[in-house]
Amino acid sequence: MTDDFTQAEAASKFLLPRTPLRPKVGLILGSGLGALADELSDATRTPYAQIPSFPQSTAIGHAGQMVIGKAAEIPVAVMQGRVHLYEGYSPQQVAFPVRVLGRMGVRALVITNAAGGINLEYKQGALVVITDHINLQGNNPLVGPNDERFGLRFPDMTEAYSKAYRELTLVASRKLGKAIYQGVYAGLLGPNYETPAEIRYLRTIGADLVGMSTIPEVIAARHMGIKVLAISCVTNMAAGILDQPINHEEVLATGERVRGDFVALLKAALPEMAKDVAGCLETKP
Ligand code: HPA
Repeated sequence: MTDDFTQAEAASKFLLPRTPLRPKVGLILGSGLGALADELSDATRTPYAQIPSFPQSTAIGHAGQMVIGKAAEIPVAVMQGRVHLYEGYSPQQVAFPVRVLGRMGVRALVITNAAGGINLEYKQGALVVITDHINLQGNNPLVGPNDERFGLRFPDMTEAYSKAYRELTLVASRKLGKAIYQGVYAGLLGPNYETPAEIRYLRTIGADLVGMSTIPEVIAARHMGIKVLAISCVTNMAAGILDQPINHEEVLATGERVRGDFVALLKAALPEMAKDVAGCLETKP
């Protein structure tokens, strides 16, 4: 078996000839939040099953295709659906699509996810810009020998979530007249939802949101020097906050309800992010 770098390079060389676009911005869209990918212009869609070495998504609500196209005139590479550690994938496999995006030339990554709300100011359906994370997944895609072609052995995580991207997103949201929150994301392994005691513990240690994804992708992106914006949709209040159980259908239904707001916010933020990544408007001659 060849190494991740060689495999990511091969997947990138498979995807790029399929489109004249050369996206500098990538997006990973979480459970039930893939709507933006349906609206791209000049789109080329490639099922993950066709991309060499790409992991296959098994979770409901994840379409499992890479869509390269334009959103708000910006060339973007969108992963409609992701894989999770709880599906049995290794952290390196979960992070592999980020490696591919990086080798394709992506310099800015937008990650969306469904999350449980721990902060009592949040309501179901709230959109939250992630300011920082707490990795409680017990694993990390950088474990093992470091490949210097990707990045440093000990990457800095003091600004894992770009302050500039967070701020431009808050401005974009305000312009749209929509409420938006900020918060710290705690990532757990899953796949069960948390216990009420776990949620009380997470609040105590400074978490505002809880989810089962995002962290491996953010770590791999920062390892490669890719800037990150991450936005959670609070699909449910976390366990024990409301006197009701949590189920995946509710998570997907809330994602569907905020679909329009989420797409509008991403479209408003993208042109501002694109200004940050040089040459973003280039297409192949
Ligand atoms: N906990 C963990 N992950 C989640 C939740 C939750 O309450 N809601 C959506 N993803």
